[in-house]
Amino acid sequence: MIEQNKFVQSLEKDFTTAVPISDGVVTIRLMSDIDADAYAAGADDALVKRFAHLPLEKYTPQVVRNMIRGVIADRLRDRTLAVLTIADASSDSFLGSLVIFDIKKEDAEIGYWVAPTHRGHGVSGRALILSIEIARILGLKKLRARTVRENPASEKSLLKAGFSWVSEAQLEETPSGKIEMSICYCVEL
Ligand SMILES: CC(C)(COP(=O)(O)OP(=O)(O)OC[C@H]1O[C@@H](n2cnc3c(N)ncnc32)[C@H](O)[C@@H]1OP(=O)(O)O)[C@@H](O)C(=O)NCCC(=O)NCCS
Repeated sequence: MIEQNKFVQSLEKDFTTAVPISDGVVTIRLMSDIDADAYAAGADDALVKRFAHLPLEKYTPQVVRNMIRGVIADRLRDRTLAVLTIADASSDSFLGSLVIFDIKKEDAEIGYWVAPTHRGHGVSGRALILSIEIARILGLKKLRARTVRENPASEKSLLKAGFSWVSEAQLEETPSGKIEMSICYCVEL
């Protein structure tokens, strides 16, 4: 999900003005080394591979730690990309990943995945509602998301969180560079 668009814009506000943020059950926070094992395991899940458009085929905990110190830190610093952790608000343990990318002057896109063992408990819905709040704090006017017909859980989470359908499924380039029939959603902030 770390896209390579050369024309990305940086935000006026730092991501750290908006995170950590929590609803008491789920927290969205910066990534840390404690996430490395769970991130690497989750990224290996078939549904994450199919739907989340991660840039690497395989992640090891060491690769994740290197990314946290490298590209993730750099892009947080220049305010062009945020790869964040969805964590359990009580234990702070990793539940999933939320990415804010393709940042433009007034809007940005989000991507997300929940680790297999934490699915089915509404984690993505909570994370999406928090992501809307993050975008508001960052001063954005609109948040975008894309999914595909074969991913009804994602579609349902977006609609429940307040996103609206923007367009019929159309061929679009995904963040990983694949072309697929994507359905676009957005929420005005
Ligand atoms: C999509 C994903 C983020 C959903 O995360 P989650 O927090 O486990 O979502 P839930 O299981 O709580 O499901 C959300 C809603 O979809 C519903 N749902 C789940 N599977 C469904 C299915 N096959 N058909 C229809 N509805 C479904 C759930 O019942 C729930 O609705 P409810 O809140 O009314 O009960 C998670 O499955 C995931 O990480 N998938 C792989 C990566 C991915 O698809 N990312 C999104 C890319 S756009």
